[in-house]
Amino acid sequence: MRTLVIPAAGLGTRFLPATKAVPKELMPIGPIPAIQLVIDEALGAGIDHVVIVGSAAKPALEEYFAPRPDLERLLREKGNDAMADRLASIGRDWRVSVVHQDDPKGLGHAVGCASGSVEGDAFVVSLPDEIMSGPEFLRKMIDVCTNTSGSVVGLMEVDRSEVSAYGVVAPAAEMVDGIVKIEDLVEKPSVNDAPSSLIIIGRYVLTADIFDEIARLTPGAGGELQLTDAIRAQAQRAPLHGVETMVNRWDTGTPQGFLAAAVEIALVHGWADGLESQLRVVLDRHRD
Ligand code: UTP
Repeated sequence: MRTLVIPAAGLGTRFLPATKAVPKELMPIGPIPAIQLVIDEALGAGIDHVVIVGSAAKPALEEYFAPRPDLERLLREKGNDAMADRLASIGRDWRVSVVHQDDPKGLGHAVGCASGSVEGDAFVVSLPDEIMSGPEFLRKMIDVCTNTSGSVVGLMEVDRSEVSAYGVVAPAAEMVDGIVKIEDLVEKPSVNDAPSSLIIIGRYVLTADIFDEIARLTPGAGGELQLTDAIRAQAQRAPLHGVETMVNRWDTGTPQGFLAAAVEIALVHGWADGLESQLRVVLDRHRD
């Protein structure tokens, strides 16, 4: 498994007005753009080719992956070789391809736009607005795909009242060691119709025949071409498994989720000296 597809052509309406100019995937968590944290996780799981599904409306995303020899030279002149090396490594230690989704017709359609760039029998899809605390989970998902020769979705148990915002799975059996065979899945069900409280999170390992199902998609929930519907169709004739996450997951898709993630990730990485005591002062000031 070599290829990671990152759908990043959405409009980011929940982050307007910021996303009018800055793609939400480039918003910094500490000093690192969110999309880089998602790429680092996949590199840790053995990926070496990243396919970004961008759009003409988000040129900054492509600029982030383009070489900047002028900036690297300047940094070296100033003695900051570590940062120069870091900038040089973007797209050098791993390959990056960019494809465009001209009209954001949905996640299934976005993944379909990457079909010409994916190598091998299976590939990873990571949503850039979900950040995981390490690569172990993705590594386990890739292993399950290899062992079952079928697609694998990332799962998380949530409170039943929250299921309607997500894709939800119907397990075919008991979960063993965090792995479960899946019988069916449904996108954004009502609480009463939800087959379980196991939601699909933004990590997928998909066998390449998913592209045939994507090509056959018709608009689903919200009028969008849904990836969940393509996986559901694929599951009619091939095994599908879910792996429950055992690492932390931060949902950065909303401004408040993003802020909470930025603070916790900075604390975890020790990025900001004294951040903890500064936060304590701030929280004290706002205690009722
Ligand atoms: P989201 O729905 O969370 O992102 O899609 P969005 O559409 O950018 O944000 P809002 O809802 O308007 O605030 C999850 C991921 O899938 C990508 C998005 O860029 C995001 O990374 N996506 C979604 C696409 O690339 N194309 C689409 O048609 C839809």
